[in-house]
Amino acid sequence: MTKNHEAIAILGGTGDQGLGLALRFAQAGRPVVIGSRKPERAEAAAKEVLAAVPDADVRGVGNPEATEQAEIVILSVPFEHSASTVKGIREQLAPGTILVSMAVPLAAAIGDGAMRTLGIWQGSCAEMLATLVPEGVEVVSAFQNVSAHRLQHLQEEVECDVIVSGKKAPRERIMGLCPLIPGLRAVNGGPLANARIVEEMTALLIGLNIRYKTPEGLGIRLTGLPEGD
Ligand SMILES: NC(=O)c1ccc[n+]([C@@H]2O[C@H](COP(=O)([O-])OP(=O)(O)OC[C@H]3O[C@@H](n4cnc5c(N)ncnc54)[C@H](OP(=O)(O)O)[C@@H]3O)[C@@H](O)[C@H]2O)c1
Repeated sequence: MTKNHEAIAILGGTGDQGLGLALRFAQAGRPVVIGSRKPERAEAAAKEVLAAVPDADVRGVGNPEATEQAEIVILSVPFEHSASTVKGIREQLAPGTILVSMAVPLAAAIGDGAMRTLGIWQGSCAEMLATLVPEGVEVVSAFQNVSAHRLQHLQEEVECDVIVSGKKAPRERIMGLCPLIPGLRAVNGGPLANARIVEEMTALLIGLNIRYKTPEGLGIRLTGLPEGD
């Protein structure tokens, strides 16, 4: 199947974060393919996007089919299901595909708290996924610090910096997605290994959201970056 250069597939786009990204990218005019383990759940999520963004180019299909249809595939499932989900779509991950890692290895995955992370052998969720994808597929880390609640509120800006890490060419392509969402700014986060730091920041943000009673989710902003970067 030929991939649509502009399309963005969101696996697990039926959940809070994936649906938020689907709404925003659809609003920006990009074709969006929502993936799910159950195609009917993906179709229902696509209908939700259409209700909010009537001219959206959006459809809902199974995760493997969604992967086949896009060059950019965002993995939006909880950390503990990331490896198994990627193993389930390996055959559809054609060379040239960019897999975006957004999950955070929160200790909640093993019944501990969401304000702490687990140690991952490879260093981070993103680096773990990089060991699982076929040759020619690049993993880029992004969007971990963006609040699902803010993404879903289309009438408001999201106001958050997105630290994007990975190899130069795929990293720049994912950085290019950030300005499609009002308020998001892409920050060049260098090599994929820096995903370790970015993933840890989400655990900190979750704690801050609890202490400051901000269920809508805090964002992060770096100061002093040169204009236009
Ligand atoms: N929520 C936030 O504010 C936020 C912020 C930043 C980053 N993130 C990250 O974004 C990702 C998605 O977060 P979320 O809050 O949207 O998660 P979620 O709602 O708990 O789950 C997202 C989707 O994952 C799929 N899923 C659930 N169990 C699964 C399993 N056993 N195997 C495969 N897929 C499974 C489900 O899709 P189907 O049932 O349709 O297959 C579900 O709708 C996570 O990695 C999270 O760390 C979230």
